[in-house]
Amino acid sequence: MYNFTLNILRLLPPEIAHSITIKTLKYLRLKSKNFDDQILSQHILGLDFPNPIGLAAGFDKNAEVMNSMFSFGFGFVEVGTVTPMPQYGNTKPRVFRLTEDKAIINSLGFNNNGSKKIKKNLNNNRNAEFNNKIIGINIGKNKNSINAIDDYLYLIQDLGHLASYITVNISSPNTAGLRDMQLRGNIEKLIKKIVKKRDEIDSINNKPILIKLSPDLNEDQLRDIALISLANNIDGLILTNTTTNRNQKLLSQYKNKNGGLSGQPLFERSNQTLRKMFTLTNGQIPLIGVGGIFSGSDCYAKIKSGASLVQLYTSLVYSGPGLISKIKNELIDLIKTDGYKNISEVIGKSV
Ligand SMILES: Cc1cc2nc3c(=O)[nH]c(=O)nc-3n(C[C@H](O)[C@H](O)[C@H](O)COP(=O)(O)O)c2cc1C
Repeated sequence: MYNFTLNILRLLPPEIAHSITIKTLKYLRLKSKNFDDQILSQHILGLDFPNPIGLAAGFDKNAEVMNSMFSFGFGFVEVGTVTPMPQYGNTKPRVFRLTEDKAIINSLGFNNNGSKKIKKNLNNNRNAEFNNKIIGINIGKNKNSINAIDDYLYLIQDLGHLASYITVNISSPNTAGLRDMQLRGNIEKLIKKIVKKRDEIDSINNKPILIKLSPDLNEDQLRDIALISLANNIDGLILTNTTTNRNQKLLSQYKNKNGGLSGQPLFERSNQTLRKMFTLTNGQIPLIGVGGIFSGSDCYAKIKSGASLVQLYTSLVYSGPGLISKIKNELIDLIKTDGYKNISEVIGKSV
C-alpha cells in the first residue's frame, strides 16, 4: 500500500506531496507495534533509545505526526525547526527532488507555525501510548529577529520542558547569516548563554542540549567547536545539516538550484565531518550522524565513523516508511556478523 501511495505522491510537486503526507498521517493515527531487539538499545544523553534510528528535523516541522513516525519504527523523532514567531519561509518553488541522484535540494527557510502552535501540538500529541518516547525539539531563529541569541533563549524557556532533548540549529543554509553563528566568537557566546538559561530553569535543567552543524565547516572551525563544546559541557552534536557544496557529480536537471543538498551525495561529506569531530572530541561527546542514509550498512558506516545515533530524512521520501524496519534488520545482521553484542560496541570502530 505504501509503495502505491509513494508512486502517486511522486507525481506531485514535492511540497504538495509532503503536505498531503502530513495531513494523511495526522488522521491515520497509526498504532505502534514495533518491539526492538535489545542489541539496538542504548542509554545515551540520559535517555533510553530503543534503537539508534531517528527522524531528522524538517519532516515534522510542526510536531503534527510524531506518533505515526514512531509507529513506523523510529527510535526517536526530532520536530522543527521551530522559530518563536510563525513564518512562511522563502518563495516557492523551494524543494526539488533530484531523483537520479537520490537527493533533494531545499531552500525552505524555516517555514513553520511558530512556538505557540507547536507547543499546543506537542501537548495534544503526547498521549499515553507515546508518553515515554524520545522527542527532540529543533529550534532556530526567525528571519527578521533583532537578536538571534534571544530567539534561542526564548525557545528553550518556552518549549524546553516538552522536549527529551533540545537541538540548537545554527547550520541551515536557507536563513541569511545563520551559519555564521558557528564561528568561534559567536558560537562560544551562544553556547554559554543557552547552557546558563537551561541550568537556571528547574523544569529544564536536566534536558540535553545538542548543536546541529554544517558539513561545510573546515578543520579549524570544527576544532574550535569541539573545544568550546567540551569546555561548556554541550551534551551532543548533530552532524550534519544539508550542504551548499556542489562538487558532487550530480545528474539531475535541478542540480544547480539554490539551497541545501541532502541525500546520497551528502553521505561521504557528512561522514568525513563526523569522523573529524569524533577524533577532535576524543569520543567524549555523543554524536548523531545524519546525511545520506539509505540502508542498514549506511547506518553501520556512520556508527563506525563515530555516531552513537543516526537520523534520516531524504531516503524516507524515496523509499517510504517500510525502510525503517528494513534498516533495523540489516543493522542487526551486521552487528551479529561482526560478533558484537550491542550497537554501542561499534561506535567509532573505523576512526
Ligand atoms: C525538505 C527538507 C527540510 C529540512 N528542514 C530542516 C529543518 O527545518 N531543520 C534542520 O535542522 N534540518 C532540516 N533539514 C535537514 C535534515 O534534517 C538533515 O540534516 C539532512 O537532510 C541530511 O539528512 P538526509 O540526507 O537523510 O536527508 C531538512 C532537510 C530536507 C530535505
